[in-house]
Amino acid sequence: MDRTPLISGNWKMNLNHFEAIQLVQKLSYELRNHDYDAVEVSLHPPYTDLRSVQTVIDADRMRFQLGAQNCHSEVSGAFTGEISPAMLAKLDVDYVIVGHSERRALFGENDEIVATKAAAVLAHDMTPIVCVGETLDERESGQEATIVEAQVVGSLKFIEGEKLDGVVIAYEPVWAIGTGVTASAEDAQDMCSHIRSVVGSIRRESIDLIRIQYGGSVNPANAGELMAMPDIDGALVGGAALQADSFARIVNFKDA
Ligand code: 13P
Repeated sequence: MDRTPLISGNWKMNLNHFEAIQLVQKLSYELRNHDYDAVEVSLHPPYTDLRSVQTVIDADRMRFQLGAQNCHSEVSGAFTGEISPAMLAKLDVDYVIVGHSERRALFGENDEIVATKAAAVLAHDMTPIVCVGETLDERESGQEATIVEAQVVGSLKFIEGEKLDGVVIAYEPVWAIGTGVTASAEDAQDMCSHIRSVVGSIRRESIDLIRIQYGGSVNPANAGELMAMPDIDGALVGGAALQADSFARIVNFKDA
């Protein structure tokens, strides 16, 4: 099954809108047309950078997809400090990360909240990147498959029918995020294959269509090996997405 890999740069809470524009321009300079033929590339700046990045992408007809890092599930209302999916859609955002482990751990998001956000993103014709992943304790006590399965089922529960086919899942083991410790390609593959079969048990038709990214200390040296795995369809990149040259080398992992 041919699934176009999706390489996503999650900038987290880094870069103001001037720095964001610079990074997008440098990145565009580093990449060639054929790079985008092989993979899709999404950039997820902080909210305050979105309009600037969108304008640069549009003006220079760059082939990046615009992404956000989070959103609220409601369209509008008394939710001080929140950003609605309708606002993101209006900015031509294509992909929205939901349920990143930092949001789960630091901002109290559980599967129920993540499921509501994922459905809201789809309702506004954008694609959710639904994050799941176990902690080190959970892996060391052998619970990783059960934990991730519960997160997948719980976070996708409000997605109906064929909408599931287009969803992206990011498997990000918490112990690999920002630590420099990457999951081995075999361990990442095992979990992504497990996630695919869980998706298949929710909707059989989605099994070969849904894309599953790996995230957690992805860098230019390990990207090729990870993405050569049959059930890994791209990467969600944090630290290495903040420099144009390292992110570009991850995007063209096939040339490495
Ligand atoms: P790092 O690539 O910095 O480990 O971050 C991964 C991540 O959390 C992407 O969402």
